[in-house]
Amino acid sequence: MAKLIFFLAVQILLLAVVSSTGDDGENFARTIDRKLLGLHKKEKLTHFKVYWHDILSGPNPTSIMIQPPVKNTSYFGAISMIDNALTARVPMNSTVLGQAQGFYAGAAQKELGFLMAMNFAFKTGKYNGSTITILGRNTALSEVREMPIVGGSGLFRFARGYVEARTKWINLKNGDATVEYSCTLKHEAKRCRDELQCNIVVIQRSQAKVGFPTKDAVKECALPTEPELASEKNKTGR
Ligand SMILES: *[C@@H]1O[C@H](CO)[C@@H](O)[C@H](O)[C@H]1NC(C)=O
Ligand SMILES: *[C@@H]1O[C@H](CO)[C@@H](O)[C@H](O)[C@H]1NC(C)=O
Ligand SMILES: *[C@@H]1O[C@H](CO)[C@@H](O)[C@H](O)[C@H]1NC(C)=O
Ligand SMILES: *[C@@H]1O[C@H](CO)[C@@H](O)[C@H](O)[C@H]1NC(C)=O
Repeated sequence: MAKLIFFLAVQILLLAVVSSTGDDGENFARTIDRKLLGLHKKEKLTHFKVYWHDILSGPNPTSIMIQPPVKNTSYFGAISMIDNALTARVPMNSTVLGQAQGFYAGAAQKELGFLMAMNFAFKTGKYNGSTITILGRNTALSEVREMPIVGGSGLFRFARGYVEARTKWINLKNGDATVEYSCTLKHEAKRCRDELQCNIVVIQRSQAKVGFPTKDAVKECALPTEPELASEKNKTGR
């Protein structure tokens, strides 16, 4: 039954897309009701800490310089791609919560300052598949570096907020480092875990003529409201 509904949903979605592209160029966007995407609830304020491991050394580095600096005297112009583990605690072998994927680039000529552009892709529990995007300035020698959270996906849709980065340890010989990212963000309380349900609600709005799930069906996909990182913390004893 679920499969059938999904199949119908996809068909209708396609139909809706096809028919909407028939509009003239000025009418490609429209206002929709916040309630349709479950965005009418109060937004949540979420806080968590993760530990970001920048490993340059050894046989499996997760941070690789793909562009050297323009001069030997500073990092300006250097670009490193990262796929760094994010863990629940400082030790590298503590629970992996996700990966920090993106790059940092030397962006300051007269000091050590990086442009950070990365997604935190979470892999655990209900956060599996959700992301937040960090884009900011990182003067790596400062004790605390604040950077904006500019967006998110999944449970972190419409996220905005900030992180505070604090270096926990650094190996000055090879550059390996662990940095605490203390993250504070506002985001929408998401109503539907299942994208399908959300899509059906949107489709309903576009007035396709088909049977739709009842209110109860939508209720079933409501998420528990308790912040899950509390239980995540419990698991890891933090
Ligand atoms: C950087 O320094 C090395 C020697 O340490 C030298 O061989 C190289 O040419 C220098 N590169 C630049 C861009 O100055
Ligand atoms: C993590 O590594 C430390 C040593 O670096 C070790 O003492 C500890 O038992 C390890 N913990 C786990 C869960 O593997
Ligand atoms: C996270 O989601 C992916 C893709 O849906 C799945 O393959 C993986 O097993 C999930 N991991 C956890 C820990 O739930
Ligand atoms: C965390 O563990 C404590 C006891 O160790 C327990 O009382 C509490 O309910 C747990 N919290 C969650 C969210 O699991």
